[in-house]
Amino acid sequence: MAPPPPPPATLAAVLLLLVSVSHPPASASSSPFDAALAALQGWIGYAFRSPDLLRRAMTHASYSRENGRALAVLGLAAAESAAALRALAADRDAPASAVSRAARDAAGEPACAAAGARAGIPGVVRVAGSTKASAPPVVCGALRALLGAVAVDNGTADAAAEVFWRLHVVTTATAAAAAM
Ligand SMILES: *[C@@H]1O[C@H](CO)[C@@H](O)[C@H](O)[C@H]1NC(C)=O
Repeated sequence: MAPPPPPPATLAAVLLLLVSVSHPPASASSSPFDAALAALQGWIGYAFRSPDLLRRAMTHASYSRENGRALAVLGLAAAESAAALRALAADRDAPASAVSRAARDAAGEPACAAAGARAGIPGVVRVAGSTKASAPPVVCGALRALLGAVAVDNGTADAAAEVFWRLHVVTTATAAAAAM
């Protein structure tokens, strides 16, 4: 025998349940993007006080007017500063050409895009449909924005330099291992 049709109130409750299951309420850690941002913070070894800065850094200009471009200006400067400092700390008589080469090698697009790829940025950064998230300029821009975001979040470029060297060393070690 077929069960009697449910009273309207039960039906409404079932529908409400279905709707809430297919559209869970938005919370800070519910979206895949937020999960990716959390994983990225683990990878770089820096926990943001203001996760909004990280969201912005991982947003390409093609995706939103609120993007990481300004942060990337700071990130590039922080990376170059870290590399130049290391070169001069190792040799105070280093010629200008050697210091600028060290800064360029460490902070330039090839190293920067490689470090960004290792950190999984192509799978994190938000781009518009026509933009390739794995394109080196996009990955490098996002990595620089990430460094800038760390500096702003921390209130010092030292934290950005720490993250920079952590990612840089990982990338260099990986490249060396791959070349063996
Ligand atoms: C800056 O970064 C360092 C190293 O990650 C951390 O120990 C410190 O708490 C941070 N300071 C601020 C104000 O976020």
